[in-house]
Formats: sequence, structure tokens, C-alpha cells
Amino acid sequence: MNISIFGSGYVGLVQAAIFADVGHRVICMDVDAGRVDRLRDCDVPFFEPGLAQMIRNGMDSKLLSFTTDAKEAVQASDYLFICVGTPAGSDGAADLSYVMQVASSIARYMSSRKVVITKSTVPVGTTDQVEAHINEALQSQGRNLQVEVASNPEFLKEGSAVADCQSPDRIIIGTGSARVLEEMRGIYRAFNRNHEKIMPMDTRSAELTKYASNAMLATKISFMNEMATIAEAVRADIEHVRRGIGADPRIGYHFIYPGCGYGGSCFPKDVRALKHLAEQHGHRATILTAVHDTNQRQKNKLAERVMARLGSDLSDKTIAVWGLSFKPNTDDMREAPSRYLIEGIWSYGGRVRAFDPQANGACRELYGERGDLALCGSKEEALQGADALVICTEWKAFWSPDFELIKRELSLPLIFDGRNLYNPAQMEELGIEYYGIGRGLTLVAAA
Ligand code: UDX
Repeated sequence: MNISIFGSGYVGLVQAAIFADVGHRVICMDVDAGRVDRLRDCDVPFFEPGLAQMIRNGMDSKLLSFTTDAKEAVQASDYLFICVGTPAGSDGAADLSYVMQVASSIARYMSSRKVVITKSTVPVGTTDQVEAHINEALQSQGRNLQVEVASNPEFLKEGSAVADCQSPDRIIIGTGSARVLEEMRGIYRAFNRNHEKIMPMDTRSAELTKYASNAMLATKISFMNEMATIAEAVRADIEHVRRGIGADPRIGYHFIYPGCGYGGSCFPKDVRALKHLAEQHGHRATILTAVHDTNQRQKNKLAERVMARLGSDLSDKTIAVWGLSFKPNTDDMREAPSRYLIEGIWSYGGRVRAFDPQANGACRELYGERGDLALCGSKEEALQGADALVICTEWKAFWSPDFELIKRELSLPLIFDGRNLYNPAQMEELGIEYYGIGRGLTLVAAA
């Protein structure tokens, strides 16, 4: 089938590569000429395991191509996927201007029937709005062409985006049209094997399903972070509690890891956008507000702890930071807890020596060259000359470090662990002062 994908970010690019991999002819369009040039050389602008190879395969087989030409992308295909960004505005509402620009291009250039599919995470009602926008534009120009707009949200996770897209746990198709549903079944045939994954529904339910999924996951995390705070207050260990509650299949073990807060391009933005949407419809979303507020507090915790232990004048202190990306297997630092830590340390005059297996480049881009930031080539190098170590991301490389080396390198054998990687009893035996999240020890902020 012929497919055009608008937007070459995470969702668009991965989806384009995956569709080409199963034999669809795919054109991926982006307005960013520099990005398109890089993609034509198979140079993927972010780190995502397996994606570059898949793009190379798609280009070699001539099934995948990239363009900046919206007209070409609209006219070449019957199925047009909108995968552009929906960033949060200052009030938390999703900014739909990129989505509507694509809708305008479709209306301008289409000359035959099109099925348009919104894959970006969009507020409920956007799919209808896109359809109305295109129809109005066509009518005002007296062009009698058929367009049908469906919602088909994406649930991929950064770091495992290719695998998630290849084996989706559900394929949500929001449409009122039996014909479009059949066509979408055709597009997804290769991914709908073993058991039925396609869930047809109306467009608004499809749109809300995406927000509700992310909000539910974010709620689990904030709930656990709140339990971790309570565990600290009552001198319990959240890691025992986590296993204890996870054993109940109604709760489950997934997504109940306490930590230094959720980050990334989706959860923070989508929780706020859903809260905003609820408020627009007259409902005060108290749970979503609490989820967001708890997360903001959690992200500040590591910096607060460093200050509580070392004092609020860090001008003679250097802090080693392991992990900059918001989670492992990505180089993405959007809304990453590490940013709150680093900026907190700086605001109290301290210096940072950081290492991330993939995100050093993103960090340099974010903060530029500065005297109080050393981006190091290894986790060991980050320890050199540092006073204490803080762990922000649970990369595999950080799980079993050489603790004797850590003790030798740090002026204080002091670890703040935002991901609960180590065993407090073992740390005590080794003579390392260790603060995890929710592990029975509370540090009260220094005056
Ligand atoms: C998320 C959703 O999982 C995905 O379905 C959706 O399409 C996009 O948003 P992603 O942002 O890639 O994906 O990251 P995810 O793996 O879900 O992690 C989000 C954040 O939650 C990370 O900062 C992670 O560290 C944190 N997290 C996750 C926890 O703090 N505890 C957990 O138990 C799980």
C-alpha cells in the first residue's frame, strides 16, 4: 500500500521504517531540510536501537524515501499519517499548529480520495477538527473530493521503539467508516498476527485512550513516589513494599518503580494536556494535578538531598553524575530528572562531572561549554576529583560498579541513588554512605 508519513520524529520515523519493512511504499515528509538530508544518508538524528539499520534497509529496497515536498507526499499516497509534534503551550494545552499545517497541505494538494490518520497524541476532538478543516478548505475552493480522517494513536516507548512498533500490544483504530477500518486492517496485516490486536472504536475514544494510557502509567509512578516518601518518614523500605504489592496480579510488577521522577517527551506533556482538556470541559482533574505536582517535587529531590547533606554552599564541591537521559537506551534529555539535579547543583555554586552512555552530546547541546560542567568519557572518569556521586538513570553499566574504586575516587564515600540500584546493607558494609529513594532514611534540608 502507499503511505505518506508527515513528521520524522520518533513516531513518524519509526513507523515509516516499520511500514517499509513489511513491504508498503512509504514517503516520509518533514519541513526540516537539514533533517531530511541527514535521513537520506541514513543518519538518524537521535539514538534508537535498530532504527538506523531498518531505515537503511528501507532505502536500499527503494520502499522508503524522504522528502521536504508536501505536495509530493500528499499526491503519492492514499494513506496519509500525521505524526508531527504536539508540544505543550505555556498553559499545558497541546499546540496543534503543526497538525493543522499538515491538514492545510493535504487540503491544498490532494486530487483524489485520501484517508488521513492522526497518529500524533492529540486532544480529544482533533481528528474531527482535522476532517472539518480539510473539508471546509475543499468546499471553499469548490473541489469535490472525499477525505476520511481516522485516529490511530501510537504507544511506542523510546529505547524499544522498533520492537514496540513491530509487535504492538494493541492497534487502536478510531473511525466511523467500515471501509476505512478494512483499509487500516490491510495496512496493519503484518502486525496483527497470532491474535486479534485491532480495536475499532470511535475517534474520540481512540484519542482519549492514548492520554488515559499515559496518565495511568504516570499515576502509578507518582503513587509509588509518594509511597517512597511515606516509607522514608516511617523508616520502611519501599523496595520491600514494591515487591509486596506487585505480587498482587491486580496491581502487577510493571511501572511501580520509585525513582527521581518521570521525564521524556510524553508523560509530563500528556498529563498536563489531559488536565487542561478536562478543565476546558468544566472538570477539575484532581488526580492528574496531584500526579504532576508529585512528579515535580520528586524531580527536585536529588538536588535537595545533596544540599541537605553537603550544605547549601556547594562552591567547593564537585558532584559526579551518572546518567543524563530521562531513561536508559535513549539519548533524550527532555524533562529528564538529571536536569533538575544539575541545575540545582549549579544554583548552589557546585560543579558537575557527568557521564551518560548516549546523552553526553544532548547535554552539551543543552548547556553548551561551561566551566562547571565536565562531560566525561566513562563513569570512572566522572568520579575523578568528585566529592559525591548521584545516579539519575538506571543504565545497565551502572548496576555493578567497582565500589572500591568509587570509594577511592570520591572525597566522601557518598552516593545518592535516584534509581535504587544498590543494596543499602551492602553499602553500609562497604562503608559507603548511601541514600536511595524511599529506603528508610530521610535527609532534612539544611537551613
Ligand atoms: C511513554 C509510554 O510508555 C509510551 O507507551 C508512550 O507512547 C510514550 O510515553 P517513554 O516516554 O518512551 O514512553 O518512556 P517510559 O519507558 O514509559 O518511561 C517514562 C518515564 O517514567 C521515565 O522517566 C522512567 O524513568 C519513568 N518510570 C518508568 C519510573 O520512574 N518508574 C517506573 O516504574 C517506570
